[in-house]
Amino acid sequence: MNNEIKTHIVPRTDLDFGLDGDIPRYWLDGHPFKTRFVDALSMTFPIGERFFISSVRRFRDRITDKLQLAEVRDFMRQEGQHGIVHNQWNDRLRAQGVPVDEVEAFCDRFFKWQLGKLPQAWPLVYTASVEHLTAIMAEAVFDNDNFLHGADERMRAVFAWHAVEEFEHKAVAFDVMQKTAKVGYFTRVGIMAAAVVTFQVLTLYFLRKVLKADGFSFGQRARLWASGLWWLYKPFGGVFAHMTPSVLQYFKPGFHPTQIKEPSCYRVWNETYEASGDPLEASRSTLLAA
Ligand SMILES: [Fe+2]
Ligand SMILES: [Fe+2]
Repeated sequence: MNNEIKTHIVPRTDLDFGLDGDIPRYWLDGHPFKTRFVDALSMTFPIGERFFISSVRRFRDRITDKLQLAEVRDFMRQEGQHGIVHNQWNDRLRAQGVPVDEVEAFCDRFFKWQLGKLPQAWPLVYTASVEHLTAIMAEAVFDNDNFLHGADERMRAVFAWHAVEEFEHKAVAFDVMQKTAKVGYFTRVGIMAAAVVTFQVLTLYFLRKVLKADGFSFGQRARLWASGLWWLYKPFGGVFAHMTPSVLQYFKPGFHPTQIKEPSCYRVWNETYEASGDPLEASRSTLLAA
């Protein structure tokens, strides 16, 4: 008999996105900057997710609440699955000549430094911060006017699934940080500020490497950066402007991730996936519902 406690966090396994198919090199709107920005982000996920799991696992033995333990278990399972799928995409990027190994080695050093040199709770606090950022990206994934507008449907399906699961486990690291590691307000918001900066600086740093590896000339890269940075940072309608109010929520004393509103398409995705078992179908259903 299975005595496992059921949580609202559903680890879904063996999903097939068709990532070995004929996905164009510039799969996001045919735009090298947009595509490689998301690729640069995605490249860091397998190593990053391993770090998230390690930073939470350190505190698992101190958790006594059975439901919280079950949530930690399901959080780890979900992040493990995300790593597997984003690794498949990394293999594809490697074959395109993208310096995935270099980026992964950099991330590995950065996360090992955090786990080895910083106070024990800080990596967990960093994880809670990034989990907040990924949970609000979940909303942007489903907003077709924004982040993934014009994406290849297989890649959109990867991000839709990942977004759904990030939304489901958004409070796990935060709860371990508050209830178990007993981290206070100033550490939480200080590390969030650092996470917001490192997240952007590192992604743009990796993107620079990828665009160079793609063989664009200096002039071509200058034009790509001009249009790409405007896409990211324009004050009205830019990718980050859209997310800023949700990021700032985290700085409110008394904030809890359950205050993040459910992405509008969460239910549609879930119901379609439950019925069809097909993540592409589920992603399509959210486009129709948007
Ligand atoms: Fe994830
Ligand atoms: Fe996550």
